[in-house]
Amino acid sequence: MKISVIGAGNVGASAALKLCEKGLAEDVVLVDIMEGIPQGKSLDISQAMPLNSSNTKIKGTNDYSEIRDSDIVIVTAGVPRKPGMTRDDLFNVNATITKSIAKEIKLHAPDSIIIVVTNPLDVMAYLMMKETGSDKSKIIGMAGVLDSARFRAFLAMETGAKVEDIEAMVLGGHGDSMVPLAEHIMISGKQVSGIISKKKLQQIIQRTKDGGAEIVKYLKTGSAYYAPAAAIVEMVESILKEDGKILPCSVYLEGEYGYSDIFIGVPVKLCREGIKEIVELNLTGEEKALLDRSAGEVKDTIKNFNI
Ligand code: LAC
Repeated sequence: MKISVIGAGNVGASAALKLCEKGLAEDVVLVDIMEGIPQGKSLDISQAMPLNSSNTKIKGTNDYSEIRDSDIVIVTAGVPRKPGMTRDDLFNVNATITKSIAKEIKLHAPDSIIIVVTNPLDVMAYLMMKETGSDKSKIIGMAGVLDSARFRAFLAMETGAKVEDIEAMVLGGHGDSMVPLAEHIMISGKQVSGIISKKKLQQIIQRTKDGGAEIVKYLKTGSAYYAPAAAIVEMVESILKEDGKILPCSVYLEGEYGYSDIFIGVPVKLCREGIKEIVELNLTGEEKALLDRSAGEVKDTIKNFNI
């Protein structure tokens, strides 16, 4: 198993560290255009491996040909948000970066599964598919796993329940219109309505939607990376183990949930070939209406940017 991580910034390097710590691949390659950064960070990570009893080898490089024949390529490269920016504000600069990376993946690792992390997420996943020509089953956007983890973390903070006893999911685009599913929350096997007031739940939903921005506001010069890296690794593990976990990911739809020619977050099962199955949940009328709105916004962005 060979996994390449493009972008040695905070998200990419944190994901590479976690992949190595968990020994999820024989080889990890960390690529960045900044000279010295992927080499230095990789050397640092490799020196942590004896302390993790992991024999994963990591190599840092500025040379894209090193990603040759990767099974999975994780694309984190791009510019993060500054306070006050939306993810869509990043389109122009990150589209240029994504296009050039797509060219390299097509050249060196055309059969790889590509996990897209760069924002605006759903649009970048769409662009990646167009530019690489890869099959739709091979392109998976990372957002829903992160947003759902934030949702569960806030529900745990509110109720004191253990995080593993909280089921909650966020679908839709990875933007302000994302859809934390209010009617699909289970806390220790019980419906949320008997545990959290409607008003409090609405506050938690809003905080989830603003989850990324809240961190950008604190950090000022960058965006979140520990939870995004953990979400990437959760997806990689599910791909490798084919554990059948239902994970919300941004994937290309052709009629599922009533949407076509769009990448948007829906529940999927992953496998070693990429996307195994798109799971169609029974959404309530309100949840579906919110998802329709989110899909409409992602479509508009795709159209506005002429992809
Ligand atoms: C966030 C960025 C990764 O949500 O989009 O933190």
